[in-house]
Amino acid sequence: MRRTIVAGNWKMNASKESVNKLILGILSGMSEVRSEVVVCAPFPYLSQVEALITHSQVKLGAQNLNTNSSGAFTGEVSANMIKDFGARHVIVGHSERRSLYGETSPLVAEKVKAALDSDLTPILCVGESLEQRESGETEIVVAEQINTVIESVGIDAFRNIIIAYEPVWAIGTGKTASPEQAQAAHLFIRDLLRKSNESIAQSTHILYGGSMNAGNAKELISCADIDGGLIGGAALKAEDFLQICRVG
Ligand code: PGA
Repeated sequence: MRRTIVAGNWKMNASKESVNKLILGILSGMSEVRSEVVVCAPFPYLSQVEALITHSQVKLGAQNLNTNSSGAFTGEVSANMIKDFGARHVIVGHSERRSLYGETSPLVAEKVKAALDSDLTPILCVGESLEQRESGETEIVVAEQINTVIESVGIDAFRNIIIAYEPVWAIGTGKTASPEQAQAAHLFIRDLLRKSNESIAQSTHILYGGSMNAGNAKELISCADIDGGLIGGAALKAEDFLQICRVG
């Protein structure tokens, strides 16, 4: 049985004041939460969140990393730096990174490797654009995104990788994939893993992302192959986020 994981992706939304309010709000409602809860904060706030979540069940994650461990890479952040602030997770290959910052599948695979080498759990994002869905390419796109990582780090590494299926057309648009559409994509991903290793296919968490909110989370998370959510907009308000966390 896979335990539900709910991860918040704050993206570039935070201030010292809002982080304080959000984390204290989340902590105050954690006693009724059975899911594993992760908050992925922007880099400057990792330290603040680390201090606030001490002794709680909330886990900390980052939203990106550089593939190098240190050196002359101005403006970049390494896996070890992220770990230094108590984070255990890192989002890799989010569609915004792929589309706005030119991250290719081979680069995403390198980032997954860098995270794993530092004992961080990558939350590997995959998903198709609207154009790709409409031209029937969803499975081709998602298979390429995942197979590139399998070829680079090997299927066994997926014991320590979380996958997030995030159809690009559903991110931040208020347009959610229907439970049937999401379940079909999740099953496709699990079957893809199954081709390499049955037990890894069974144990890998596949989260759904794309306008998941308090109103639709239950229906989505109750699908057989949906093991939780990667939440953007609805992760910025403690009560909305907690309602999703309570589903699992
Ligand atoms: P959204 O974002 O929930 O605001 O659609 C999800 C994500 O981009 O991870």
